Amino acid sequence: MQLSGHLENPIFKIVADEARKLGAEAFVIGGYVRDILLGRESKDIDIVVAGSGIELAQNVASKLGKNILVTVFKNFGTAMIHHNGLDVEFVGARKESYRADSRKPLVENGSLEDDQNRRDFTINAMAFSLNEFDFGSLIDPFGGHHDLEKKIIRTPLEPDITFSDDPLRMMRAVRFAAQLGFTIEEKTLAAIQRNGKRLAIVSKERITDELNKMMLAPFPSDGFIYMQETGLLEVVLPWVAALQGVEKIGGSGHKDNFFHTIKVLDRVAQRTDNLWLRWAALLHDIAKPLVKKYSEETGWTFHGHEVKGERMVHDIFRELKLPLNEKMKYVQKLVLLHLRPARLAEDEITDSAIRRLLFEAGDTIDDLMLLCEADITSKNQQKVIKYLKNFEIVRHKLAEIEQKDKLRNWQPPVTGEMIMQTFDLQPCREVGIIKNAIREAILDGKIENNYTEAFNFMIDEAKKINIIQKK
Ligand code: CTP
Repeated sequence: MQLSGHLENPIFKIVADEARKLGAEAFVIGGYVRDILLGRESKDIDIVVAGSGIELAQNVASKLGKNILVTVFKNFGTAMIHHNGLDVEFVGARKESYRADSRKPLVENGSLEDDQNRRDFTINAMAFSLNEFDFGSLIDPFGGHHDLEKKIIRTPLEPDITFSDDPLRMMRAVRFAAQLGFTIEEKTLAAIQRNGKRLAIVSKERITDELNKMMLAPFPSDGFIYMQETGLLEVVLPWVAALQGVEKIGGSGHKDNFFHTIKVLDRVAQRTDNLWLRWAALLHDIAKPLVKKYSEETGWTFHGHEVKGERMVHDIFRELKLPLNEKMKYVQKLVLLHLRPARLAEDEITDSAIRRLLFEAGDTIDDLMLLCEADITSKNQQKVIKYLKNFEIVRHKLAEIEQKDKLRNWQPPVTGEMIMQTFDLQPCREVGIIKNAIREAILDGKIENNYTEAFNFMIDEAKKINIIQKK
């Protein structure tokens, strides 16, 4: 197969010329080849050379112009050039061999074939030639092209060997399966089942990187189901694994919260690429197993799972080395509030309840509504129609009140500073009491959201707790 049509970018010709001058064979390899064949855009080009990758990179860079910077990673024998929005990485072909007395591989210079043998999947082990005599031809020793067409993830060597070289590849398998909509071949899948526990030796950052890529797949549930089937879920996300299963008492069972969760995640994924909203979907019911109760009168309940869930988000983010910043707070807020719109819709929808929700949700209100709508996974169509209709009313009311009261990023018209000035107070408990009372009165609709009403209300409240206005 010829890929010359995809090699129009002048960089390939330059690499080919410089490699020829060095008397070394060069090839494009890995993800770039896979993505070209899939018709996906890719900005990372890996060049493997039977010789020194660093020397080739330096020669290519000087051909490209004076200002091209070569970043050299001496320890790895690699070098990187950034050119016209592309990252081109050069590496010398390597061979790894294992001695019986050591787990540490011996890494030596090798051929293209040796390099292809060490790659993770057949679809990632293809190369195309940059050499004069067969420029653009595909070198595909493991049938990667066929696997691409059949949509199969398969290791080039015995999967136990490929996974033992780098256990992260097991996560990569489920990530690629979800990302590309592929199936993991049987022997490869069985090897993941056998070796899954070895993921424990891989750094959290690398695992989480794969997890995030999987979360951004068109249907992340494909990856989660593979993780569950292989046991990777238990190793990587034990809290999500704990959502599995249906307990029954006296013939009454609850829904399987794992399948519910990944359904909600897929529904959210159909509507947004926001990674953190997707994380909120994954974690919205995370505390359910911890608060689950059964009683004859009420059946199964999960009271307080949203409050406990909010706290768990922090622990999970810390454990997975996800950022402990405003992204985490956003996820926490969505988890904490995820029941509110539905509860609102169940009762009579009052202005004050809407105001309160707007105040608490702030800028996350639209994402919260999206999450809550995705959370309706009932099989009972009548119920679904009823909920969605109620949500429509909530949305309508939210827009109406927001227009009137501008509560999204609202601060009450009388601040703590003003309270201290009016009553000649230092920061103290009483200031907080008055401030809260003003906020609550506005949210409840007892007074209007303006300075005069808030000021008069403040005076009345101060009198109630025996605070005298400054003369
Ligand atoms: N690779 C590997 N084992 C790994 C990671 C990477 O064999 N644990 C090889 C694969 O051949 C892969 C190439 O290195 O195609 C480049 O890896 P990377 O850039 O991480 O992934 P891509 O396959 O390019 O995919 P993506 O850009 O989606 O991460």
